[in-house]
Amino acid sequence: MANKSPQAIRGMHDILPDGSGKWQRAEAIMQKVLASYDYHEIRLPILEKTELFQRSIGEATDIVAKEMYTFADRNESSLTMRPEGTAGCLRAALEHGLLHNQTQKLWYYGPMFRYERPQKGRYRQFYQLGVEAYGMAGSAIEAELIALGQRLWKNFAIEGKLTLQLNSLGTMGERAKYRQKLQSYLQNYRNDLDADSQQRLETNPLRILDSKNPATQEILQNAPLLQDHLGQESKQYQQQLLQTLRELGIDYVLNGRLVRGLDYYCQTVFEWTTDELGAQSAVCAGGRYDGLVQQLGGKENYAVGFALGMERLLMLCDATPSPSIDGYIICTGGKAQQAGLQLAEQLRERDADIKLQVNCLDASIKSQFKKADKSGAKYALILGEDELARGEVGYKPLRVRREQINIARNRLGEYLAQGVQGST
Ligand code: HAM
Repeated sequence: MANKSPQAIRGMHDILPDGSGKWQRAEAIMQKVLASYDYHEIRLPILEKTELFQRSIGEATDIVAKEMYTFADRNESSLTMRPEGTAGCLRAALEHGLLHNQTQKLWYYGPMFRYERPQKGRYRQFYQLGVEAYGMAGSAIEAELIALGQRLWKNFAIEGKLTLQLNSLGTMGERAKYRQKLQSYLQNYRNDLDADSQQRLETNPLRILDSKNPATQEILQNAPLLQDHLGQESKQYQQQLLQTLRELGIDYVLNGRLVRGLDYYCQTVFEWTTDELGAQSAVCAGGRYDGLVQQLGGKENYAVGFALGMERLLMLCDATPSPSIDGYIICTGGKAQQAGLQLAEQLRERDADIKLQVNCLDASIKSQFKKADKSGAKYALILGEDELARGEVGYKPLRVRREQINIARNRLGEYLAQGVQGST
């Protein structure tokens, strides 16, 4: 019986060569936008001590309770593959003294891991771009982060597909009071709640506000509202942010039910959502989380940020054609392949931007021309025995009708540099 080929883990996807160009172009756009706001990259480990996530995201959240990839290493320490980047980023900032009398504007990029039920737009390994700002109180930095998000959508030409939803969770104290009120209201309907919400009633009642279950939704109609439990300062704080957003021309929708699935937030929370991805509508989400700094052992400080899901972002973007190569080197007979490799090296030495493919297979000239055509190359360079003997290279434009010409090998670089090849 033939051996079965190994398969990737469910919910963990390969990005194949015909798709990686789209990722690379998106990454380049993001880096440019981030640089234009003076945010700097921080590269973080994928593994952290499990305790970090328990202490920051919260024991009662779905992420920590059900979704983490946690294991004991050879030393019996409990480690976890990061389910998100905020905790690790702040851990690193504290560990290296980056919050000491200074502000920081940071970003990180890479895979995150959550044991969720895979479906369209929801994976077990997914990529996030995270953006975090430390040391800044006030809503100006929140407005800047939101403007940065909007700038990204503009650069990806998906501005019209996203809606900004905003809420205020108030201070920790206000939220705790509201939690109690909501809990006692929902206790009255305990038996009518869906199973998930019943479980959350004790551990994380605010998350019930997120429930999509119609019966639970109905019960929530008359539930106490978080807005009504905000103090004057929290309300003013939110008003200031809203005013700045209006001045920046950024549209928003206030959503009193937006609570987020991680425990560390206070005051402002936001999500950019779309209706083009079915149930997985959140493309980018974040908020303020000042309290986490002290929770992780730092001095009182300020922190705010967001993360965007790359797979969801890319699903909203139209495919752009990959840039094609410049030249395809056709080699026939005897020493031609070696000569082809050598020629390609000489041309790359001369022009660092040139993109060439050398045919490394023994094949007929006809089939090599076919491949050259398919590759999208602007021109073919032909090295056969005759050309080699004469110290020449055949040059044939592939995108315009023009006869092949022969060029002396030592003049080819100069000829290509004139930039006329292929376009005339
Ligand atoms: P989050 O809402 O858990 O927040 O994730 C942010 C984004 O990551 C989501 O809006 C979504 O686009 C993407 N995402 C999350 N889970 C998955 C999944 N299973 N498959 C595909 N995409 C997914 C955070 O992670 C916070 N750390 C955000 C933050 C940064 N808050 C402050 N700073």
